[in-house]
Amino acid sequence: MDRIVVLDFGSQYSHLICRRIREFSVYAELVPYDISIDKLREMNPKGVIFSGGPSSVYNKDAPKPDTAIFQMKLPLLGICYGHQLIVDNFGGKVKRANKEYGHSVLTIDNNSDLLGGIGDSLRAWMSHGDEAEKIPDNFQIIGHTERSQAAAIANTQELVYGIQFHPEVVHTERGVQILKNFVLNICHAKQDWTMESFVEKTVNDISKIDGNVLCGVSGGIDSTVAALLIHRAIGDRLKCVFVDNGLLRLDEEYEIEKMFKDNFSVNFTAINAKKQFLDKLRGVTDPERKRKIVGEEFVKIFTEFAEKNGPFKWLAQGTLYPDVIESGVSKGPAAIIKTHHNVGGLPDWLDLQILEPLRDLYKDEVRKVAAILGVSKKLLSRHPFPGPGLAVRIIGEVTEKKLEIAKVASKIVEDELEAAGWYDKIWQAYAAVGDDKAVGVVGDERKYGNIVMIRVVESIDAMTADWTRLPHDLLAKISNRITNEIDEVTWVSYVISSKPPATIEPQ
Ligand code: XMP
Repeated sequence: MDRIVVLDFGSQYSHLICRRIREFSVYAELVPYDISIDKLREMNPKGVIFSGGPSSVYNKDAPKPDTAIFQMKLPLLGICYGHQLIVDNFGGKVKRANKEYGHSVLTIDNNSDLLGGIGDSLRAWMSHGDEAEKIPDNFQIIGHTERSQAAAIANTQELVYGIQFHPEVVHTERGVQILKNFVLNICHAKQDWTMESFVEKTVNDISKIDGNVLCGVSGGIDSTVAALLIHRAIGDRLKCVFVDNGLLRLDEEYEIEKMFKDNFSVNFTAINAKKQFLDKLRGVTDPERKRKIVGEEFVKIFTEFAEKNGPFKWLAQGTLYPDVIESGVSKGPAAIIKTHHNVGGLPDWLDLQILEPLRDLYKDEVRKVAAILGVSKKLLSRHPFPGPGLAVRIIGEVTEKKLEIAKVASKIVEDELEAAGWYDKIWQAYAAVGDDKAVGVVGDERKYGNIVMIRVVESIDAMTADWTRLPHDLLAKISNRITNEIDEVTWVSYVISSKPPATIEPQ
């Protein structure tokens, strides 16, 4: 498989470069900027991209790649900081400039190769404080903005290019075309990265392993897809275990079991541990304590299962690419990244090796694999759900009564959003409940009942979120249904806090 290697100099957009390239079916991989030249040679890339980054090339401690990269005679593209690195390395000069942030119009001076097929100008996304003052010999300016004379440069003999703007972000018009020009026309990489080929290769690789595989499944898309891939490869040597902690969405435990057993014939054990979790959570009101209890009980039950049903050689996890990457700049060493694993804290004596079939994939790629494997549309489009489940959506002690209210009210919220065509447009939607009460009148009687809080948010990545401006009629319908269908509830409120300063979950 042909591949493009992206050296990560710490830009918040580094991953996006890979994702954009993979979207046109070329495999792209993000590596730390200080990758050794031997490792890079082993990867045998068709071309290398230097990402942006927060540093200045003229600073003493600026991150720089092994200069042997420049002798590899590979096509090179530098983006933002990467552009400045190229200028600096080939003998040009970079200086501090007035900050240029946001949209600028890039005028194209030469549209022969890198900037081919994109017309005379484009709106480009800039985010930089340095610029090329003098470009290296043998380079020419192929594009400029009002404030950056050398916003795009090229040495078409050596196939080395630099662009000051970010083609990977959606705010740059025809940015994908620029990446395509580099990857397809200049590097001549083949478009052979498809999810069908990924499934075929992964299943083939996994079928070579020996021993049994243990996989904890949650009903979420990542663990489901990991399990289904492994099942395709080794059948019943995979044992899936699902711990029902009683903190799931309404009836979710039955749906998950049905999906694995009926639709996919996977060796699947559901452990009903509702009582165990609720007993441990009784009287606990502190949010962090609740999270900790849910995590600890899970590990306990999972360990018991492994002990009784083993021996297992492998523990499968649905870890994705963004959690795996060890970047020299933006993330810590690989050892720290381990804490991303969903099943932390398993005892050493289980002696399990980790199997992570999705470790090369981004989330949108996992969705494509899921569709290939026959995962239902409903699961594919279901909103994310927190690991500690309703324990973080119930404020104060988790009781059976509050659980029931949160489950039924959330189902009403989800169903009404679905019916009104809103469900797929938003990030998460649910009803939370606490201990606050308010008076209502039912018939002629006063009733002191629970207050339910509806939370509906829009987000791209959960780092920030805004509350959704739902139509009042839809809110009225949801409110009516909740008070009519759940006896205990007298008031329904709508949460209008964004993140920040609030978080998406109340606890
Ligand atoms: P917050 O509440 O921090 O949530 O704005 C951001 C996103 O993360 C989810 N979330 C969790 N997911 N384990 C998870 O697997 C957790 O402990 C957890 N806490 C929050 C939340 O649903 C939202 O999408």
